[in-house]
Amino acid sequence: MVCSDKVLRNRILTDRFSPIGQDGPVAKAVWAKAHANLALVKYWGKRDEEHNLPAVGSISLTLAPLATEVRVTQSQCDQILVNGSPVPQPAKKKLVRFLDFARSIAGTEVRLSVEVHTNFPVAAGLASSASTFAALAAALNKFLGLGLDPTRLSAVARRGSGSAARSIFGGFVEWIAGERPDGEDSVAVPIAPSDHWRLSVVIAVTNSQPKRVSSSDGMRLTQHSLFFTAWQKEQEADLTLARQAILRRDFHGLGEIAEHSALKMHALMMAARPALLYWEPATVAVLQRVQDLRRSGVAAYCSIDAGPQVKVLCQPPDQERVIVALSEIGSLSVLVAEPGPGVQVREVCP
Ligand code: PMV
Repeated sequence: MVCSDKVLRNRILTDRFSPIGQDGPVAKAVWAKAHANLALVKYWGKRDEEHNLPAVGSISLTLAPLATEVRVTQSQCDQILVNGSPVPQPAKKKLVRFLDFARSIAGTEVRLSVEVHTNFPVAAGLASSASTFAALAAALNKFLGLGLDPTRLSAVARRGSGSAARSIFGGFVEWIAGERPDGEDSVAVPIAPSDHWRLSVVIAVTNSQPKRVSSSDGMRLTQHSLFFTAWQKEQEADLTLARQAILRRDFHGLGEIAEHSALKMHALMMAARPALLYWEPATVAVLQRVQDLRRSGVAAYCSIDAGPQVKVLCQPPDQERVIVALSEIGSLSVLVAEPGPGVQVREVCP
């Protein structure tokens, strides 16, 4: 049973943070926190929608301080609040489906109260679904006693959002596409921890509103793009280059492949019929400004996910110059991120 929004809204007014469980015994409460991640070699396209299996492998960098915290308690009906408000459809359906999936593994029907807090714009192409589903997977693992290790947990997080598999781990992470129809081998694995390499990611937020087309819908719409086969064919080579660049701390090597992967993914969206275009005018302005920076000797490279925001990868000594250059563009705000840790989870007072 899912609580109605009206019931939920009344409860928010009276008690925002304590468990919304006056209507049921609260056995315990679990808190978890996970960070967003930036895909350096992008995931785009699914080979199986039901199990959420990717058409290609991908590599990412987990980003602090962009994070989602979740708190799970027992309730009489499923209740979900995101940043203090009832969550609208279709996000609600996706979250409840994920609760059902975790319950089916545990073999329980227990109803849950879930509070989600994200400290950056949600559903805007900044990987909030990655941090949300990674945190939720970890919280449910503990709350329902699933006993999953981090690798198995990444496969569960994947069912909520593909990129969430990577946010289970900190630092540099690969999500292996896998081959099995049941997805058992489609898991995330760490490449190097967050302290392996101090990098900086300057994020130009060009529009913080939720995007019009979700990544899942976008993938479905563009899977028949003229360029999709070429995209799949080149992915292994891109993954190898990125892995090597990370392990050697080769900044130009990593930046070049990351920018190539991002622009190639958007090119395939634009070549679909009808075309999918996530960019804003300021997105193009940032891309051009970063090219200018490179010409003037600043090592900086762009990445863009399913949205209009541009993530600029640079090294800490160049961070200030990148921030100043982006701030001059106007009609955008700037966030700064760095390599972050994997998911954290603990039992808290109900
Ligand atoms: O995890 P999803 O279903 O939100 O898809 C993420 C897709 C991209 O962000 C565009 C690429 C990626 O690898 O994260």
